Order: sequence, then structure tokens, then C-alpha cells
Amino acid sequence: MTSAESGRALSAGIGPVIGWSGDVIVALDQTALPRQTNLVRLTTVDQLVEAIRRLVVRGAPVLGAAGALGVALAVREADRSSWTPSELTYQVDRIRDARPTAADLAVGVSVVRPLIPQGAKVVEAAARSYVDRIVGSNRRLATRGADYLADLFPGKVLRLHTHCNTGALAGVEWGTALGVVQALHARKLVSQVIVDETRPLLQGARLTCWELERLGIDHRLICDGAGPYVLARGDVDAVVVGADRIAANGDVANKIGTYALALGARHAGVPFVVAAPESTLDVTIPDGSAIAVEQRAEAEVTQVQGILLAPESTRALNYAFDITPAEFVSAVVTDRRLIVVPSGPGAIAKQRTA
Ligand code: MRU
Repeated sequence: MTSAESGRALSAGIGPVIGWSGDVIVALDQTALPRQTNLVRLTTVDQLVEAIRRLVVRGAPVLGAAGALGVALAVREADRSSWTPSELTYQVDRIRDARPTAADLAVGVSVVRPLIPQGAKVVEAAARSYVDRIVGSNRRLATRGADYLADLFPGKVLRLHTHCNTGALAGVEWGTALGVVQALHARKLVSQVIVDETRPLLQGARLTCWELERLGIDHRLICDGAGPYVLARGDVDAVVVGADRIAANGDVANKIGTYALALGARHAGVPFVVAAPESTLDVTIPDGSAIAVEQRAEAEVTQVQGILLAPESTRALNYAFDITPAEFVSAVVTDRRLIVVPSGPGAIAKQRTA
């Protein structure tokens, strides 16, 4: 990172967590929350790729924004550094491939990339308008999700359960699953939100609790392993989570720990709702077994902020995501439709064309 500016844009509400300023990307450093609100300026493709890999910039829709804005950044750098066309192609591919599971990163790149021959200004305008569209999509899906849950539980003030972070921090300015919670809260229909801590990087504890506190929504943080028990106790009316990629049959890739929650929800008879933009649906992938699941550094599991939790020689498995089979998903809510998930091959793809 070249520089960090403290606090700007975040004093009231959560402003855009990623944007284009002059000819650089400015993003909120999500690794520093909740203790610090630092903005970072990303001026090169190397810096952007590193920021994406370290989760400075994270969350599926924000990764879509990073992909689109990243193409603009690469075009600027190509001009400055006199890259050949093939060097530019290589650098844009690096952005697209910086994290494999979230569909939206590659979608963001692919929306803007074809405009490269039209020059930097056109590319920048397209990237900025794509970022605006992300926010609009999230607002629409949040309203639809809130309508769905309000209809499912007429007159009830809801106890909800969520995993990871799907709020404005993940959605540029408005969240997906947490956007649904926020929309329900605006209707005075939320009594409490249960938040999984979301090991190993604690997006639930660090980010979702931070957002809920700012929104004034009552919440309780639980250990990831407590989720199924809390559901079994009858303390939750519905689970609402986001998604990083949804296959054609409705299998859902989302932050590790989602699958356990879905199993717990099914056992407890609690609806399990997935909220994500259409761009997260990847109908080129028949089912979850074909989704690339990112494996991250072992040290993220064996250490917390540099402190060893296990014997030095302990090896870890660090799957960043898991795949929840479609049969455990009650509904998928997108910016365009509500899919009450049927099971079977191509279930989502069939509804797409219906
Ligand atoms: O690894 P992250 O923090 O980028 O994880 C992505 C997520 O926040 C979740 O999996 C989320 O549910 C999808 S993004 C709204």
C-alpha cells in the first residue's frame, strides 16, 4: 500500500468502501476494522492484487467493484509504464485470478475489459457505472429478501442468524444478506441478530458486529461451533447468508462454516435464505463440486494476529469457503427474482430462462 488516510468518509454511515479517485482506487482497509478505519490508495496492479489477496478489499460485490476498477487501474499503469498489449492482458488476468471462489471478481473484470481499446476515460466511466450498479442491485435484492421474510412470518419481529460479513462493507455501500437484515430493521421487524464469529479471519466478529452496532441493531456474537445449537434451541426464526458463487443446480459456495449452519437450520426446521446478486449465479458450473474453493495460508488458522494458538509444528487445513448443497437452501433472493430452491440438476439455470 502506498498510503493510508484515517477515517475519511466513515464518520457518518458507511460510505462507498471502494471507489475511483483521480486515477487511483481508494478502499477501506477491512483488515484494520474494527479498531481503525483506514483508507488505502491503490495505484498499481501489484498493490491491488496484494490488497485482494490479503482481504484488505473483500466481500463478493466489493470484489466485483475491484475487478472493474482494477481494469481502469491497469489501463492507467499500462500508459505510464508503456506496457505492450500482451502485458496488459496478463496484468488484467492477474486481477481476475487474485481470488478464485467469488464469481463477482471475474464478472467485474469481464464487464469492463472489452472497452480497453476505447481508452482510459471510457474504461473508467464504465467501471464507475458498474460500481453504482452493484449498489443498486444490492438494494433491490435486500428489499426482495425483506419482503420474502416478512411474508413468511406475518406480523412477527424476527430473530435472524447470519454468517461472515455481507453488509455495506462487502457490498460497496449496501449489503446483500445483511442488506436484507437492514431493510427488515427499517420496517421494525428485527428483534435480534445472531452473528457467527467466522473463523479464522473473524469477519463476523470484526465487521458484521461493527456494522450492526452502527445500525443500532441488537445482536449477539457466538462462536462458529455454537450455531447449530442456537438453532436447535429455537432461538432463531431464519438464517440469512450471502454467497460467493451459486452453481446451476443451486449449490452455494459461501464462507467456511455456512454448510454447518445450513445443516443445523434444516434439522431445526428454520428457513435458510441466501441473498446474492444475479452476478453471483454461475450457470456455467453444473454443481458445487466444480466450484474452485480457495485454500488460504495455514498460519491464518494456527495463529491469531501473530500469536500461535497451536504447537509450532501443527499443520492446518484452511478452506476459505464451503459448498452448501441446494437441498439445504430454502430460497435464493437476487436483485431480479426470488427462487424458492427446487432441487435437481440445473434447477437455477432452468429458472433463469423461465
Ligand atoms: O473471504 P471474504 O471475506 O471475501 O468472504 C466473502 C464473504 O464475505 C462471504 O462469503 C459472503 O457471504 C459473500 S460476500 C457478500
